[in-house]
Amino acid sequence: MKLPSVLLIGIFAVLGSTVHAATPDQWRSRSVYQLLTDRFARTDTSTTSRCNTEEGLYCGGTWRGVINKLDYIQNMGFTAIYISPITFNIEGDTGYGYGYHGFWQQNIYELNSNFGSAQDLRDLAQALHDRGMYLMVDIVVNHFAWPGAFNTITYSKFTPFNQASDYHSYCLISDYDNQSQVENCWLGDDKVLLPDLNTQDPRIASTLNDWVRSIVSNYSIDGLRIDTVKHIDKLFFPDFVSSSGVFATGEVLDGDPGYLCDYQNYLPSVFNYPAYYQAIAAFTNSSGSIANLANSIDAIKNTCKDTTLLGSFTENHDMPRFASKTQDISQAKSIIAYTILADGIPFIYAGQEQHYAGGKDPYNREATWLSGYKTDGELYKLVQALNQVRNRAIYVADSYLAYKNYPIWNDANTIAMRKGFDGNQIVAVLSNRGAGSGSVGISVPNHGFAAGTQLLDVLGCAMVTVDGNGYIQTTIVDGVPKVFYPLLQTKGSGICGM
Ligand SMILES: *[C@@H]1O[C@H](CO)[C@@H](O)[C@H](O)[C@H]1NC(C)=O
Ligand SMILES: *[C@@H]1O[C@H](CO)[C@@H](O)[C@H](O)[C@H]1NC(C)=O
Ligand SMILES: *[C@@H]1O[C@H](CO)[C@@H](O)[C@H](O)[C@H]1NC(C)=O
Repeated sequence: MKLPSVLLIGIFAVLGSTVHAATPDQWRSRSVYQLLTDRFARTDTSTTSRCNTEEGLYCGGTWRGVINKLDYIQNMGFTAIYISPITFNIEGDTGYGYGYHGFWQQNIYELNSNFGSAQDLRDLAQALHDRGMYLMVDIVVNHFAWPGAFNTITYSKFTPFNQASDYHSYCLISDYDNQSQVENCWLGDDKVLLPDLNTQDPRIASTLNDWVRSIVSNYSIDGLRIDTVKHIDKLFFPDFVSSSGVFATGEVLDGDPGYLCDYQNYLPSVFNYPAYYQAIAAFTNSSGSIANLANSIDAIKNTCKDTTLLGSFTENHDMPRFASKTQDISQAKSIIAYTILADGIPFIYAGQEQHYAGGKDPYNREATWLSGYKTDGELYKLVQALNQVRNRAIYVADSYLAYKNYPIWNDANTIAMRKGFDGNQIVAVLSNRGAGSGSVGISVPNHGFAAGTQLLDVLGCAMVTVDGNGYIQTTIVDGVPKVFYPLLQTKGSGICGM
C-alpha cells in the first residue's frame, strides 16, 4: 500500500513548525558527520588511549568528548552529527564483546552511562544548536538484546517490554528472501540474541511512539537514524515518525532500488545502499564499472520517491572501510567527492577523513582519537573543500538541492556528473584510475554552462573557461577528481581564498 504523500508532508510540516524539531526540508541541506560515541572522543581528550577494535571493549568515548571536538567536525563544513544509540545496553562481556556500539538495548528509559549523563547529552545538543548544527541519534525499535540462547532469556530484565508476549514468537531468520520472516523472526544467535518486538501490536507501537516523542523532547534531538528498518513492519513507520516530530532516515540494507525505494513511502528517507554498492565497485580499481554506477544513479532516481532526501554514504560502522579495499589516495578522493556531491544528505563516517582502513565489523570501528585529529591531511582538506562548495551552492540558491544529480558523460574510467542549474551547478569529474595513472585529457559536454563561463576547480583552485564549442576541456592528473563551480559564485565564499 502507498501512503498518500500529501498526508505525510502535511504531518511533517505541522510538527516541524513546533519547537526545535527539524523537518525533512531542513535536513535536505545538511551534511552529516557520523560517529560512534564510544570511539570518537574521550572526556579526558586523550589521543593515545588504546582501543583494540577486535576486543570489542568500551574504549571510553563520551558525549562530553564530542562536545570538546566539535571544532574538528564543524571545520570540515559539517552541519550535523549522527551519534550511536543512547539507551541502556547489555552490561558486561558477551561472545561478541561489549555493547559499546549501543545496538544491544535492554532499557529504553535509561541512558547508557558509559557515554555520560543526561546533562552531558543535553549539553551536546545545546552545543550543536549554538553552532547552528543538528543532532541525529540512532535508535533501535526492532529488538531488544539478550546475551545468551532463547531458553535463558529473563524478560523481567527488560524495560518496559518485560514479557515474552511483547515479542514475536521465536524463530531465527533463515531465508532473507522471505519478507515475513525478515520482519517477524529474530536476528542474532546464541551468543547475542535479539528478541524481536511485536511492533504490529498497537500497545507496543503506542509505547514506542510515546517513547520517541519523549526522547526527542528530553534531549532536543533534531533527527533520527532508525536501525534495521527492513526487519520492521512497514506500517509501523508513519505513526512512529510523525510521533517523533522530526526527520528520520533508516537502514534498509539492500542493493536493489525496487526493494529499497518502497520504504520511502513509509518514512522520509533511507540510506542509499544501491548507490553505495555501485560506488564502491566503481572506484575501488580501474576495472570497476563506471557505466554501472552511471546507470544506477538514473535507475535509483526513477525508482525512489525523492533521491534528494536519501542518505548518501560510502562508509559506515557496518561496512568495510573503502581503504580496506584500496589504499589509493586518488580513489579515496573520488569516492568522497561522489558521496558529498550526489543527491541526498551526505554522511561521512568518522575516520574516512583520516583514510582509516579497517575491514568489516569490528575492525571498521577504530578510535578517531588515535589519528590525533589532524586537520592537515589530504582527505580532511578535501572533505572541507567539498562541503564548502556544496554549502555555497545551497546558500546561493537552495533550488540546488531539489535538482537531481545525473551523469552527463562517462567513459570506462571517468564519470562527469551535474547537480544544480542556472549557473549554480556543480560539475564533478571523477576517475577510478588512481594515483600514478598519468594525465588524461577530457572534454565534458552537457554541463549547462554557456561558452566563455569561467569555472573554478575548487579542489585544485585552478581556473578553466568553457570553450567556444561548449566543452569543459580538462585534464585528470593521477586520478585526482575535479569539481567545477562558476568563479562568479565563489566571490566572498572563502572557496580557494576567494
Ligand atoms: C516465509 O516464512 C514463513 C515463516 O517462517 C513461512 O510460514 C512461510 O511459508 C514462508 N513463505 C515462503 C513463500 O517461503
Ligand atoms: C523524559 O523526561 C521525563 C521528565 O524528566 C521523564 O519522566 C521521562 O522518563 C523521560 N523520557 C525518556 C524516554 O527518557
Ligand atoms: C577490482 O574491484 C572489484 C570490485 O571491488 C574486485 O572484484 C576486483 O577483484 C578488483 N580487481 C583488482 C585487480 O583489484
